[in-house]
Amino acid sequence: MITIGLLGCGNIGHIIGNYRGTWKIAALYDRIPEKAEELARLTGGTAYDDFESFISADFDLVVEAASGKAVRSYADTILCHGKDLVVMSVGALADPSFKDEIVATAGSRGRRIYIPSGAICGLDNLKVAQISPLTRLLLRTTKSPASLGIAATERTLVFEGKANDCIKEFPRNVNVSVALSLACGRDADVELYVDPSVERNVHEIFAEGAFGDLYIRVSNLPSPDNPATSYLAALSILSLLDHIGNPLVVGT
Ligand SMILES: NC(=O)c1ccc[n+]([C@@H]2O[C@H](COP(=O)([O-])OP(=O)(O)OC[C@H]3O[C@@H](n4cnc5c(N)ncnc54)[C@H](O)[C@@H]3O)[C@@H](O)[C@H]2O)c1
Repeated sequence: MITIGLLGCGNIGHIIGNYRGTWKIAALYDRIPEKAEELARLTGGTAYDDFESFISADFDLVVEAASGKAVRSYADTILCHGKDLVVMSVGALADPSFKDEIVATAGSRGRRIYIPSGAICGLDNLKVAQISPLTRLLLRTTKSPASLGIAATERTLVFEGKANDCIKEFPRNVNVSVALSLACGRDADVELYVDPSVERNVHEIFAEGAFGDLYIRVSNLPSPDNPATSYLAALSILSLLDHIGNPLVVGT
């Protein structure tokens, strides 16, 4: 059974902690120790109040569900301690030199870094773009003004440009644009809208290339127990953890 160290015990941490998967949460760490302790009581894992003790504990991989800052602070140490790493705050990898650095560390240590599909679909076969480059790659995301902390009374374009710039302006809201860019091997174009009439986060992917073209539209409902997190993003991390290490690998 795969054993997990959970880094970050907030919304996503609770969704992971409440699911009974084919793996076990062995260790937990949060910069707010009470949060790790509370989730430790639920999962039966051990809460640590300092990162060094957490990362020195005996488990297989770290699931990061904390922040981009946590990824930048801890990724290298995690890999150097012989743990694989699942990154939810994938926006941290928008910095090419940081990404190259941790990928090199993972390679030299024989470790793996996993990026869940999160709140979108299609990353599996869009990786063909690394073989046959796309002529168009656009992510159009629409969210409620409240979710971005913006006041708007009508549909408004709040960002148009590259994913690696969009994540700097909206570090918690467009992780999917960076995941898409990493899958395709190029910085995706992004249009970010706020729309007071939408109740769901909508992600539309437009891609064109030698293969033809595709359009994917995902309209995300919130998690039943956790309105702050899209249910698809929550399911995506649970599915990734359930399938890590499976002998049969489908849709990669
Ligand atoms: N890839 C995706 O599709 C996707 C989807 C949803 C959320 N996310 C990202 O996942 C991360 C977690 O989301 P959430 O909704 O659970 O957030 P949250 O705010 O509910 O929980 C984050 C937890 O991590 C802790 N934390 C933050 N920084 C830390 C640090 N440096 N060290 C230790 N603990 C730290 C916080 O105290 C908090 O308990 C966020 O960065 C979010 O942007 C990604």
